[in-house]
Amino acid sequence: SDRTNVAIIGMGTVGAGVARLLIDHGDRTARHAGKTIWLSKAVVRDLSKPRGIDLPEGVLTDSIDDVLNDPEIDVVIQLMGGLSPAREVMLRAMEAGKDIVTANKALLAEHGAELFTRARELGRSIAFEAAVAGGIPIIANISQCLSANQIESLEGILNGTSNFIVSQMDEKGAGYEETVKRAQELGYAEADPAMDVDGTDAAQKLAILSHLAFGATVDWRDIPRQGIDGLDPADLVYARQLGYRIKLLATARLVDGELELSVAPTLVAIGTPMAEVRDAFNAIRVVGDAVGPVFYHGLGAGQMPTASAVVADVIDTAVGRTPITFETLEYFSAERPPRTAQRD
Ligand code: NAP
Ligand code: HSE
Repeated sequence: SDRTNVAIIGMGTVGAGVARLLIDHGDRTARHAGKTIWLSKAVVRDLSKPRGIDLPEGVLTDSIDDVLNDPEIDVVIQLMGGLSPAREVMLRAMEAGKDIVTANKALLAEHGAELFTRARELGRSIAFEAAVAGGIPIIANISQCLSANQIESLEGILNGTSNFIVSQMDEKGAGYEETVKRAQELGYAEADPAMDVDGTDAAQKLAILSHLAFGATVDWRDIPRQGIDGLDPADLVYARQLGYRIKLLATARLVDGELELSVAPTLVAIGTPMAEVRDAFNAIRVVGDAVGPVFYHGLGAGQMPTASAVVADVIDTAVGRTPITFETLEYFSAERPPRTAQRD
């Protein structure tokens, strides 16, 4: 068909940004998809809340069934956050024949195996570029652009909220509580910001990246983790005096064939690229055996950077080229396909 109909479930920070790109920049999506991408429905809980965007008549609804029961809707963009009912909505949407785009890393870290298995059984796709590092295309890079490599290590700043808080405290002397509140106002934080500051969000993202980079099935709860919630502001000052900044680093490294994982506030030498990552920016340093080190830097949270990744996934889904298929994941996690290399 010359038109792909999409629905957004969840019109909060990210959903409203996605709607803005789809409605205001239909020319871009059409150019890249080769067809119109049409926003048919946008689901919220509270119809009376202002959304900061002028939606065409009949698009906004508070009924998820309006989407799931509409056979004309091809793609569901799941941006409601949380585990339930997000999981059930995704399963029902796929059963109704719809492909999925989501930014919900908590859900994928928790129920990814079930969701991808079901997607394969139903012949559906789940795209999730926005689930890790917001606007940085790290999922596509690790799973596609670096696929000739054995990844040896990856380390990064994967939680924009924590980095924003630590940067503001370090550079502006801001207080912890006021900065958490500011991160919420700016749309960086999770609905429950404890997930950001206690290292949970970074661990969930690290589990997803580890799956793609190392073929490891990792339960995020098994990753040793510490957040920035216990950080003493004096530590930031002492670190600076010694020539370091403190960053919440998520690290995955192959050591003698074993994967070592951690999330922890870490001393990073001032002047190195990782130490200069400010505010809600994220960064990831990946080392591959062929490419060597590669460094990615960009906004890891916030409305439009995240919407940028979501809409790219929508375009890929509309043309049937989603970067991650279940087969890709299965290749990593289960039996490998027969070797056909010239030399093993
Ligand atoms: P948010 O601002 O809290 O928005 C959530 C939206 O979902 C709201 O519009 C809410 O409706 C709707 N919703 C929640 N439960 C619902 C239900 N049962 N039925 C219908 N609608 C429901 O969240 P967000 O920041 O946009 O994040 C969305 C997802 O993206 C999350 O999984 C988050 O982890 C992920 N993410 C966020 C960012 C970011 O920078 N914010 C970046 C990357 C990934 P009401 O508005 O009516 O309450
Ligand atoms: N709360 C998350 C963060 C949003 O601060 O990084 C992006 O995943």
